[in-house]
Amino acid sequence: PSVGIIVVAAGSGTRLGRNVPKAFVEVGGRSILSRSIDSIRRISEPVELVVVVPADLVGATSTHLSDTPHVVVAGGATRQQSVAAGLEVLSDAVDLVLVHDAARAFTPVDVFERVIAAVRSGAGAIGVIPGLPVTDTIKGRDADGVVQQTIDRSRLTAVQTPQGFPRALLAEAYARAGEDVTDDAELVQQLGHPVHVVPGDERSFKITNPHDLERAEELAAPGAR
Ligand code: CTP
Ligand code: MG
Repeated sequence: PSVGIIVVAAGSGTRLGRNVPKAFVEVGGRSILSRSIDSIRRISEPVELVVVVPADLVGATSTHLSDTPHVVVAGGATRQQSVAAGLEVLSDAVDLVLVHDAARAFTPVDVFERVIAAVRSGAGAIGVIPGLPVTDTIKGRDADGVVQQTIDRSRLTAVQTPQGFPRALLAEAYARAGEDVTDDAELVQQLGHPVHVVPGDERSFKITNPHDLERAEELAAPGAR
C-alpha cells in the first residue's frame, strides 16, 4: 500500500491522571487505542499501520488491535520522538504518511479519506491538516493577564489529526527538526512547504482531561454513533 498511518499512543496521559498510559485507558469497555483504529480499518484502500506505544507495552499492544495487520514500535519521551520512531519502521512502499493521535479515538473515517485525497491533489508538495473554525472569542493577553487585543477569529483554525504528508516531505522535516513541537505540520512549514486545511470533525476532539473522558463515554455508548 502507498499510504502509511502512524498512530502515536506512547504518551503517559498526565492530564488525564490515570494509572495506565492514556491510550490504554478503557472507554466503554475498550481501550482508547483500540477505538482509535476503528475508522482506520474502514478506510477504502489498503493502508500500512504503525502503532507507537510506551516501551513496556510493546508486547501487550497487539491484543488491542484485534486482527488488523500492524507494526508496533516503542515511542520516545516526546510526541515528536514518537513520530520519528514510527517513521523509521514504515516500509519502502509507503509514499504518503498520515500521523494520528490515538487520543483522538473517534475521528470519523471520512476525515482520514479527506486528508489522503488532499495530499494526493497536492502532487507531493503540500502538507494537509484537518481543522475546525474557532467558536470562542480569542484575545491576546500579556504575562500579567491584561488583554492586548481581540484576534480575528475568521482567520483561525483549531487543528486536529490525522495530518497528512508526502513521505519525503515529512521525512525531510523530521531529519531537520530542531526543538520539540507538538505539531508535525509546523515542521513541514518550517521547510517552506505550504500546509492546507481541510474540514475536521467535532468527534475528532483529543481526549486530554477527565471531562473529555466523559464525553468519550457518551460517544462510546451503544447507539451513540
Ligand atoms: N504521544 C506519544 N509520545 C509521547 C507523547 C505523546 O506518542 N511521548 C502521543 C499521545 O499518546 C497522544 C498524542 O501523542 O495520542 C497527543 O498527545 P497528548 O494528548 O498530549 O497525550 P499525552 O502526552 O499522553 O498526555 P499529557 O500531555 O496529558 O501527558
Ligand atoms: Mg502530551
